[in-house]
Amino acid sequence: MLVVLKKDYDDVSREAARIVAGAIRAKPHIVLGLATGSTPQGLYKELIAFYHEGSLDFSRATSFNLDEYLGLAPTHPQSFHYFMEQNLFSSVNLPRERAHVPDGTIAGNYEDYCERYEQSIKSAGGIDLQILGIGRNGHIGFNEPTSSLASRTRLKALSRETIEDNRHVFANESEMPKCAITMGIGTILDSKRVLILAAGRSKAAAVAKAIEGPITSSVSASALQLHPDVTFIIDEEAAYSLTQRDYYRHVLEMTKLFTPERLS
Ligand code: GLP
Repeated sequence: MLVVLKKDYDDVSREAARIVAGAIRAKPHIVLGLATGSTPQGLYKELIAFYHEGSLDFSRATSFNLDEYLGLAPTHPQSFHYFMEQNLFSSVNLPRERAHVPDGTIAGNYEDYCERYEQSIKSAGGIDLQILGIGRNGHIGFNEPTSSLASRTRLKALSRETIEDNRHVFANESEMPKCAITMGIGTILDSKRVLILAAGRSKAAAVAKAIEGPITSSVSASALQLHPDVTFIIDEEAAYSLTQRDYYRHVLEMTKLFTPERLS
């Protein structure tokens, strides 16, 4: 696990964009795992800027989003489809037929739908690079506390904390979805590489538990300790509760010296 400490949110976004753009240039047929939320917005802005200046091409890439609220149509302004359209898809040349976001409007056979989502990821060759944010309660995707560390894409009931964190963007609480379709922790752990971003003091406790705490289903992100290629990119505020900040800086210096390819 690499922990990259950055000054602020803008630096986190720039560093993440450098790594994601490098991965796309190195493998134009890349399969990306994408996240929503306020955290990756800066990263997406940087990627769009690279695309506009002609240094990045998404034409051969494929993407799979982590999650979607159940019951929201793709045109709903709070849906993750809409978010991706506004924050990335409409501004780059990623072919729409290869930009997958779970369908929040399915009704009925959820298991069958989720199994097919898993199959499409496998058929595409698996996720090369998964981008993640982290919830205040340590969730990744919508894998709320106590999600099985082996879970796959499925329908998940949202926790009270997540509903509270997100309901301000809905007109009233009754509009806030109570369930979502989300990739599982097992699905995320199957990605070849994981990049997880966090900024702000509100994420400090979750980040510390994810990096330095025990592996537990109470903090979904702690499962990333089991993954062989995870990079946390976090700002000073999100790093506030980490006890080993100096060591992470040292590891980073040594990585730059001896295995610089790990940072590209
Ligand atoms: C939601 C999403 C997560 C995201 C989290 C944090 O719950 N399902 O993928 O990481 O919110 O969001 P934000 O980046 O806005 O803090």
